[in-house]
Amino acid sequence: MNNFEYSNPTRLVFGKGEESRIGELMRARVPAMSPVLVVYGGGSAKESGLLERISESLKAADLVPIELGGVTPNPQLSFVQKGILLAREHRVKAILAVGGGSVIDASKAIAIGVPYVGDVWDFFTKKITPTEALPVAAVLTLPAAGSEQSIRIVISNGDRKLGAGSPLVRPFVSVIDPELFFTLPEKQIRAGVIDMMSHIMERYFTQTKNTDFVDSQAESAMKTIMKNGLKLKKNPKDYDAWCQIGLAGSFAHNGYYGLGQVEDWASHGMEHELSAWDTTITHGEGLAVVVPAWMKYVWHANPKRFVQFARNVMGVKGEGTDEEIIRKGIKAFRRFLKKMGAPKNLKELGAEKADPKELAKKAVEIPGKLGNFLPLYEKDIVKIYKLMR
Ligand code: NZQ
Ligand code: ZN
Repeated sequence: MNNFEYSNPTRLVFGKGEESRIGELMRARVPAMSPVLVVYGGGSAKESGLLERISESLKAADLVPIELGGVTPNPQLSFVQKGILLAREHRVKAILAVGGGSVIDASKAIAIGVPYVGDVWDFFTKKITPTEALPVAAVLTLPAAGSEQSIRIVISNGDRKLGAGSPLVRPFVSVIDPELFFTLPEKQIRAGVIDMMSHIMERYFTQTKNTDFVDSQAESAMKTIMKNGLKLKKNPKDYDAWCQIGLAGSFAHNGYYGLGQVEDWASHGMEHELSAWDTTITHGEGLAVVVPAWMKYVWHANPKRFVQFARNVMGVKGEGTDEEIIRKGIKAFRRFLKKMGAPKNLKELGAEKADPKELAKKAVEIPGKLGNFLPLYEKDIVKIYKLMR
């Protein structure tokens, strides 16, 4: 295992009705009478009455809400720039995201953009490290991206979808009320479950040796996600299942499952090109197509790890060669994706017209290569996109 340092200052407040405390929770960091930019999406938070409750909680805690709606899935730079101007105009002292990953990411980007003199897009294209940020808080309405505890931000600008990261944007407080998930459509439930599985897999599939402690935690987390994901497919108002998924999704991406090991992230790199190519593609559904193809291409780089996955996560039993067991493991994972109703190829995802060569070229343009389990160069990535057909 490698050396590491870990600090996760996100105060996590979990359970029914806890969002009504958001004003008081923010006051722990933000002085009285401060303007707070409340960022939300296309309307679900408004329609459910959540936004109004949040606004009342802020006012009751002597904070001044300034609302900014309209974040789209795969959030756009233009929205972030608008938010930065509004935040500066009102001299906001903190940002409160009310939504899923897209809303939280847009909020984080606004938070680093407000004190920055240049264009906020520099953080994504030039990999400039943020040195200052407004504090970010979140009320989660969709467990998926894990942005409520992560240091990452993903923003799109036209057909470019790029990531940035800084401990400064990790929310100082995040509220997870599983009852807020009851209104999620089936597509978002599925996409969220697959996204959180993938966040663990990006770390679990490592070449770092002797990672037993984190491996065993990751394996049971993946089993828990699959079990409860299938429960939610049957009953989207199963509070107990939402509790497990809400918790798992948040921890899946807070860094815990990568402690002391080299992480991969090639599947995310390839998926981001798909949801940048067509911004109506949902990240988690894109991953459902990418991950099995990635597995088929890379397993030979460490068969032992894939046998472990097949046995301990997918429950493959019986004798066989490593390759047979691995193939059974990948097949079992695909069966799970099918049960969740996920697309199984680029055609079902609506991306059959995307050109593998173009996607692969863009995927490596800034990083040079993707992944660490098996470093993937442009020619490898073209082949993996072709496997998704
Ligand atoms: O906009 P509204 O009307 O709120 O509708 C949203 C949106 O259409 C809807 N929704 C959210 N909560 C709801 C709800 N509908 C009904 N009831 C509720 N309670 O769900 C739709 C999708 O929302 P979005 O925020 O886009 O989904 P998600 O949380 O999956 O976030 C996806 C984004 O996060 C990025 C993805 O690339 C994508 O851009 N990621 C961010 C990461 C990070 N910051 O650490 C890591 C991830 O790997 C991921 O890349
Ligand atoms: Zn993801």
